[in-house]
Amino acid sequence: MYLDTRTCESDWPRIYMLATSFIQPRPIGFISSVSDKGVRNLAPYSFYNMVSANPPVVMFAPASRRDGGDKDSLHNAEATGEFVVATVTEDLVERMNQCAFDYPPDADEFERSGLTPAPATLVKPALVAESPVNIECKLLEIKRFGDQPGAGRVVFGRIVAIHVDDAYLAEDGMLDAAKLQAVGRMGRSTYSRTNDTFDLSRPENG
Ligand SMILES: Cc1cc2nc3c(=O)[nH]c(=O)nc-3n(C[C@H](O)[C@H](O)[C@H](O)COP(=O)(O)O)c2cc1C
Repeated sequence: MYLDTRTCESDWPRIYMLATSFIQPRPIGFISSVSDKGVRNLAPYSFYNMVSANPPVVMFAPASRRDGGDKDSLHNAEATGEFVVATVTEDLVERMNQCAFDYPPDADEFERSGLTPAPATLVKPALVAESPVNIECKLLEIKRFGDQPGAGRVVFGRIVAIHVDDAYLAEDGMLDAAKLQAVGRMGRSTYSRTNDTFDLSRPENG
């Protein structure tokens, strides 16, 4: 199969489906934000990663809505300059999935999903109490790739605080993957577990 994507604008859903079936597994950032009216919002984003260590920066990418508007997480991050990212573990997948429903902006998605908001230290959006890892972020910048359907917007945030439940730590002070049980997003509606891992050291010689 070969696809020249330069002239495939109307075919963007196919390109999206195809690309998300090979750009995988993707980590899932569970984005907690709050509107300028104080309404709590929670939504999963698998276009999520860390992109700088010093300073520590993460990004998530909400696509434009069908009407060209912004998703609530982006709207809130832009309005308040803050967001929190919780880690999605196996225990959380059903409730995480519920938050992918397109609720109106005045719906509290902690209440709708049954997850518990916990106070953050440096930002207003709540931590997800049920998640073993939450990071607090201050908005750095937003990059928009147009207003057409499917256009991505990338939200960059500086990590200002990291909360880790000590019970999930390994002896070296990092997260113990076997305890964390993070999930990844594959193509279609498929998810991956992280319990079949292997180690590979970097080569010492060229
Ligand atoms: C596992 C998972 C990952 C998702 N990743 C993304 C993503 O990276 N970008 C996106 O625009 N929508 C993504 N979605 C869909 C959003 O979560 C969904 O549109 C949600 O309603 C947005 O909520 P908000 O308007 O409150 O921000 C994902 C959904 C699921 C279940």
